[in-house]
Amino acid sequence: MRFSAFVFDAYGTLFDVHAAVRRHAEEAGPEGQLLSEIWRAKQLEYSWVGTLMEDYTDFWTLTERALDFAFRKVPSVDPALRQKLLDAYWRLDCYPEVPSVLAALKAGGARLAILSNGSAAMLEAAVKSAALDTLFDDIFSADMVSRFKTHPAVYELVTTALRVYPDTISFQSSNRWDVAGATKFGFRTVWINRSGQPDEYVRHQPQLVLPSLEGLLTAR
Ligand code: LAC
Repeated sequence: MRFSAFVFDAYGTLFDVHAAVRRHAEEAGPEGQLLSEIWRAKQLEYSWVGTLMEDYTDFWTLTERALDFAFRKVPSVDPALRQKLLDAYWRLDCYPEVPSVLAALKAGGARLAILSNGSAAMLEAAVKSAALDTLFDDIFSADMVSRFKTHPAVYELVTTALRVYPDTISFQSSNRWDVAGATKFGFRTVWINRSGQPDEYVRHQPQLVLPSLEGLLTAR
């Protein structure tokens, strides 16, 4: 086995963050997608700003605050949906190839882990509801260091726990900013560019770009 572990970002990489609004698409109406985009963008912004000003609030609280902002920004979506959307966030759909790719990696002897900004409770619930709970050896939450990615302390959770050098970790994320942080930290990085986004963060390039996790099975 070339890598000591395959470590995955959670939201956007394993789990589709837009699945919550999509599940209630009819009730959300024509601006549901816009609400979902703002919800995600604000959730991330709050995580970065909080980390920079050294004022940590857990990811679930930020997720709630981001949704409240999105509702105010998109008044056409009925705020009565709030609780349903928040509940759905605890059991997001995983992307279709995720179970089979993880199972194949695991069968090949790989150690599998999650490294996410999500709180431990959020991640455990998501993994369980997608029936992935038997596949992961470790779940690392940014909550353990009270800072969010791209702070190096978050990536360091993995190397400290597994007692390995960063370049022995294959880190997969669909979030280009996360790939940048992980590359800077020294992981071998794979950008899962699911939606054909243009490249950015040019100083911190992934070693590999794949359209889905599937390519991991051949690119090893
Ligand atoms: C994660 C989010 C930020 O860390 O995508 O899972």
